[in-house]
Amino acid sequence: MPLSDSPPFASGIQELMDSFLSMKCRYQAALMEVRTKLEILDDEFEIRYSRNPIHHMESRIKSPQSIAEKLLRKELPITPNSAMDNLNDIAGIRVVCAYLNDIYTISDLLTNQDDIMVICKRDYILAPKENGYRSLHLIVKVPVFLSDGKQMVPVEVQIRTIAMDFWASLEHQIRYKEVRDVPADLNDELHDAAERIYVLDEDMQRMHDRMVSLAAASQQSSESV
Ligand code: GTP
Ligand code: MG
Repeated sequence: MPLSDSPPFASGIQELMDSFLSMKCRYQAALMEVRTKLEILDDEFEIRYSRNPIHHMESRIKSPQSIAEKLLRKELPITPNSAMDNLNDIAGIRVVCAYLNDIYTISDLLTNQDDIMVICKRDYILAPKENGYRSLHLIVKVPVFLSDGKQMVPVEVQIRTIAMDFWASLEHQIRYKEVRDVPADLNDELHDAAERIYVLDEDMQRMHDRMVSLAAASQQSSESV
């Protein structure tokens, strides 16, 4: 019998379901806070530089089923308290940026805010995963004020470019939905695709930088006449 069919798993998941609404409320509040902070940064950037560094955002709260599966995988007790103590990705937000440099701008502006506590920062862009995966991952805690007081609630923030997001979404489909054991040559192809995508990201950044300096030069020359 697979572990996920065992009685402890079944009763654990029931307990998680029962307390899920109150748990969901605090994670939803934390997600809303982080999302609002990011929207404010994006709006301000638009006013200053006439463009948006954030292309779009997606957020999600992990389902009780996925929470239970992750606890089981980590051999941790399947209870609401164990989930809140041990999992930092119950609330997750993915920030998809236009250009490579936007990732670091957004990350710095967010993590420098004094009500944000940075728990962990993993740069899979400077040091990609073995399969080629690139993104900047942050775990931050934000204060959530509920009737029983203030709580610092963790949110996982993944920041990546549109191109990195394209690769990660399709790689996830291929790896987790289509076939479990991806043949070695297909793994190599996926890795290769990730490298080519990174080259494209660098090209787009270079083109963008050039346009910005051309625009600045043309403004300067029009001001001097
Ligand atoms: P999890 O146990 O999955 O949460 O991993 P972790 O806690 O070791 O963190 P990690 O930074 O490795 O990954 C967190 C999340 O990033 C995952 O849940 C995915 O959403 C995403 N991710 C990480 N690695 C990959 C990858 O190789 N491919 C894709 N498509 N997504 C990935
Ligand atoms: Mg995760």
